[in-house]
Amino acid sequence: MTKKADAAKRIEELREQIRRHDSLYYVENRPEISDAEYDRLVRELRALEEEYPDLVTPASPTQRVAGEPVDVFASVEHKVTMLSLDNATDAGELREFEGRLRRALPGVEFNYVCEPKVDGLGVALLYERGRFVRGATRGDGRVGEDITQNLRTIKSIPLTLRGKLAGLEELEVRGEVYMPRAAFSKLNLELEEAGESTFANPRNAAAGAVRQKDPAVTARRPLDIFLYHVSHAAPFPFKTHWEALEGLKAGGFKTNLKAKRCRDLEAVTVYCQTLEAERDALGYDADGVVVKVNSLEQQRRLGATAHHPRWAIAYKFAARQGTTRVLKIEINVGKTGALTPTALLEPVELAGVTVSRASLHNEDEVRKKDIRIGDTVLIERAGDVIPYVVQVVASKRPADAEPFRMPTRCPVCGARAYRPEGEAIWRCTNAACPAQLKERLLHFGSRRAMDIEHLGEAVVGQLVDKELVRDFADLYHLTVAELAGLERLAEKSAQNLINAIQASKSRGLARLLNGLGIRYVGERAAQLLAASFASMERLEKAREDEVAQIYGIGPQIAQSVVRFFAEEANRRTIARLRQAGVLLREEGIAEGPRRLTGKILVLTGGLKSMTRDEAKDLIIKLGGRVTGSVSKKTDYVVAGEEPGSKADDARRLGVPTLDEAEFLKLVGKG
Ligand code: IVH
Repeated sequence: MTKKADAAKRIEELREQIRRHDSLYYVENRPEISDAEYDRLVRELRALEEEYPDLVTPASPTQRVAGEPVDVFASVEHKVTMLSLDNATDAGELREFEGRLRRALPGVEFNYVCEPKVDGLGVALLYERGRFVRGATRGDGRVGEDITQNLRTIKSIPLTLRGKLAGLEELEVRGEVYMPRAAFSKLNLELEEAGESTFANPRNAAAGAVRQKDPAVTARRPLDIFLYHVSHAAPFPFKTHWEALEGLKAGGFKTNLKAKRCRDLEAVTVYCQTLEAERDALGYDADGVVVKVNSLEQQRRLGATAHHPRWAIAYKFAARQGTTRVLKIEINVGKTGALTPTALLEPVELAGVTVSRASLHNEDEVRKKDIRIGDTVLIERAGDVIPYVVQVVASKRPADAEPFRMPTRCPVCGARAYRPEGEAIWRCTNAACPAQLKERLLHFGSRRAMDIEHLGEAVVGQLVDKELVRDFADLYHLTVAELAGLERLAEKSAQNLINAIQASKSRGLARLLNGLGIRYVGERAAQLLAASFASMERLEKAREDEVAQIYGIGPQIAQSVVRFFAEEANRRTIARLRQAGVLLREEGIAEGPRRLTGKILVLTGGLKSMTRDEAKDLIIKLGGRVTGSVSKKTDYVVAGEEPGSKADDARRLGVPTLDEAEFLKLVGKG
């Protein structure tokens, strides 16, 4: 074989492996290899493709982000019009829906499939002979916009299909692009830190990303998709909607795990009520349930009106929108000095929760929506996210309402506020601003950080205002006498607070690092840093590349950590914490190589002596790593009671399996 033929063969192998791991990671949520191993495969493929550019094909996993930015999206006509859905808001309207079905097809039994109605953007994906060739927005239902390049960047969209679907001449599938809530919060935090405008909700963030003119920007946005409908296939391979969902899954598409078959309307109603009760725990925004007749033959016979199919209905969850009035716009000062406008509202109830304030995020957001004091506004509460203003009800604006203007001074300390060039956030310039200090102290004492009970807003406010506390270390020098002088704090409570502060000294490095409020270092990063460095001394001296090497710590965190310790004032605070007797080590972690350094473990089944989280923490503390599935790289599989299929995987791959006693011995607790 020629060198090029060898390369072509290897390229195909690598693509196949990468596709498989993409699917395991992005679609099935059960990766088999580490990020580093995955990166190695991609790097090898890129190198070969660079050497042989004529072997590059659009379906190669390296080509997800491809193509130049566009000025306008081309129009595409959908194979089948994308209709909208009729709505039901209660059990009665669901019964009316079934009544209509019965009248249309007398004497027929109906089965249903229920799925969450994900609040994202409907899209249509077109495949030809198993290759992704075009993706489009819904548009007006008949004609949408060609957003193929952007959709290609979503890793859970397969570029090539597997199995039966791969052989179809043509296949058009529908689905919903969305941004998971956790990814949305993280994105907003990053945007805010970078001084850019944030998004009001995951839907807006997803919509913005999907309609980006530059696919490279879309690629950096954490989008995902659920596929829920086969709108066209030649030849058509399914008899029921449920089969279609299973077929989509087998073809490599991501379908919603919550989808369920319901034998009758009673089961449908239960599903709707259960999902509504669980909606905040879903991980993504859902605004209802889509109920579909399962038989495709029945669907065909039922047909559609001009607007919606007769075989489906959207059961809408209780509205979390309402209108109220803006009484005042207050400026809050955060722990990094960011000035955030917040609307104080006339209290209004939204699906069981009374709302009296809404974050307005930043100046641009207020300007864009032109929110003024006295305005009547439409507000929405989405999941556990803080309520936000959707829009102003223009017709109800009082004649004398004036446009909002950001103050040019910090409302708390009076120092000059500024808005850095190109950023959306105004900041107080005074590092010693009491408002910032209050926020930082509250975070320091919070449950997931130093866990100082009784250190609430009222106390912190007075400690800062009376200048009893200027930095974290001052807390540890407070006396009962000083505290007893504070308002609403009896001697007994003062003593309790002192005890709580003293008790916090031994929380350990991970919680302390979280409490310090280092930019980008939250609970998880703090734990990883503590597990790797074991002591503050070692972390203080670490170089950026050493920090960045830690599994799970990115370059942004590493840079921020090193910058934090380069700051004289921060080093002084830490020295004072040390003098005060605060523990600057993570107990149970030896400095230098540890028992499990570099080892990869997989846990399956239950342990008697600890919970799974405790076992994980222990392994990380000992320098090891826990992954979700077994591969040849796994060092040990710990099989507790009723182990799952991972124990079989271990046997098949020849990975040693440990029972609980052996595991305890390994971690030094035997
Ligand atoms: S089925 C003919 N299933 O809701 C098939 N739609 O008004 C119609 N949606 O724009 C769509 N989750 O974007 C269907 N599981 C789901 C859905 C879903 C969200 C959206 C879809 C459509 C709108 C219907």
